[in-house]
Amino acid sequence: MEETMVVIVGAGPAGLATSACLNRLSIPNIVLEREDCYASLWKKRSYDRLKLHLAKQFCHLPYMDFPPNAPTYVPKNGFIDYLDNYVSHFGITPRYLRSVESVIYDSDAEKWQIVVKNMTTTDNVIETEVYTSRFLVVASGENSQGTIPDIDGLDSYVGEYIHSNQYENGRKFRGKDVLVVGCGNSGMEIAYDLWNWGANTSIVVRNPVHVLTKEMVKMAMIMSQYLPCKAVDIITVAISRLKYGKLSKYGIRMPTKGPFHLKETTGRSPVIDVGTISKIKSGEIKVLPGMECIKDNEVVFTNGATVQFDAIVFATGYKSTVRNWLKGSYESFDEKGMPKRSFPYHWKGGNGIYNAGFSRRGLRGISSDAQNIANDIYINITAD
Ligand SMILES: Cc1cc2nc3c(=O)[nH]c(=O)nc-3n(C[C@H](O)[C@H](O)[C@H](O)COP(=O)(O)OP(=O)(O)OC[C@H]3O[C@@H](n4cnc5c(N)ncnc54)[C@H](O)[C@@H]3O)c2cc1C
Ligand SMILES: *[C@@H]1O[C@H](CO)[C@@H](O)[C@H](O)[C@H]1NC(C)=O
Ligand SMILES: *[C@@H]1O[C@H](CO)[C@@H](O)[C@H](O)[C@H]1NC(C)=O
Repeated sequence: MEETMVVIVGAGPAGLATSACLNRLSIPNIVLEREDCYASLWKKRSYDRLKLHLAKQFCHLPYMDFPPNAPTYVPKNGFIDYLDNYVSHFGITPRYLRSVESVIYDSDAEKWQIVVKNMTTTDNVIETEVYTSRFLVVASGENSQGTIPDIDGLDSYVGEYIHSNQYENGRKFRGKDVLVVGCGNSGMEIAYDLWNWGANTSIVVRNPVHVLTKEMVKMAMIMSQYLPCKAVDIITVAISRLKYGKLSKYGIRMPTKGPFHLKETTGRSPVIDVGTISKIKSGEIKVLPGMECIKDNEVVFTNGATVQFDAIVFATGYKSTVRNWLKGSYESFDEKGMPKRSFPYHWKGGNGIYNAGFSRRGLRGISSDAQNIANDIYINITAD
């Protein structure tokens, strides 16, 4: 049993940023991480060619910029290097191989009780540890677990299938027929990567999406400092239409609402094209509609087409797993493991519980959550 002021669950960018802000204010905190490293999503569960989608000035964590010589769009390894510096500069010391299994609020003691599975022991004995703290910061991520839809026949599929978080690159798919399911940023980029590696690539595009270039996004971010969201949407959609033309004839429909309106209200990001669209237009990457079911190694689509694939990559998203371990506290987190209060009040719940990284605003949202939380805890403690 160990007692501290703040326990932070998760050592991703959100947990690291919160720990850094607390350390600056000399507030004791312990970061618990189930994996054997920090930023496990970036180190272990993302594809090789990944770069930050936004320009570097929008992606840094509190109190440390990217180095001046970093490229505008920082590649995955550059971001990991940045985090290495961040962790050593702010003296952050996560405890690894600690999976948080159950958390309750003890209202008599007015403390959080955190039960942790310690997997660091070498002799295969799993130890249970208990931490108590006055404040709890949930930083386990919106993307804690990959999700694959229930598709009839998937369990008897004879090919290989993986979630996008297991995809590194297309080396082993050269010459294979591969289907990518999902047309968000991961799906579109993985399809492009597979094509680059010489796979015969198809992609399932079911939902309408906005397709933008990263330059259009950067321009929109600048415009949004001066113009209302609606105007930014109208201008951005017009520019996208100029560049790409009508994409519906290639099977890609555009939503009726604008890209930044959708981002604000639903959290769904526009797709940032890395070259996939030109391959779709030339027919080198094939677009297919929704999947109906799978039979042996054949996929049946909603338009009746039946196509054989050697492998399927499900870029079908992620979910939060907060509800697996946070007992009670339904006033702070809903059944999907997302905060109940809406932006910009999402980061604070009752009884000293906070969350960082759940505003669907990427690294920018994380940076402001971490600062808000640390300042709030500081005010609370110093008011005593
Ligand atoms: C492929 C991909 C690309 C992305 N690209 C960008 C981008 O370019 N720009 C951007 O702003 N955002 C991007 N994002 C969003 C990205 O998720 C966040 O920016 C960032 O990684 C989220 O940080 P986080 O700390 O909230 O969550 P995570 O990075 O997911 O970290 C959460 C940590 O908590 C740990 N954890 C979870 N449950 C437990 C538990 N029960 N006990 C102990 N530890 C636990 C996990 O192991 C993990 O290490 C991307 C996401 C993905 C999936
Ligand atoms: C490539 O995939 C398409 C279906 O997506 C299929 O019709 C075609 O035969 C495949 N080509 C080769 C060379 O395997
Ligand atoms: C400190 O936090 C506790 C728990 O959320 C709350 O009850 C108390 O009112 C806070 N005190 C101040 C001064 O903010």
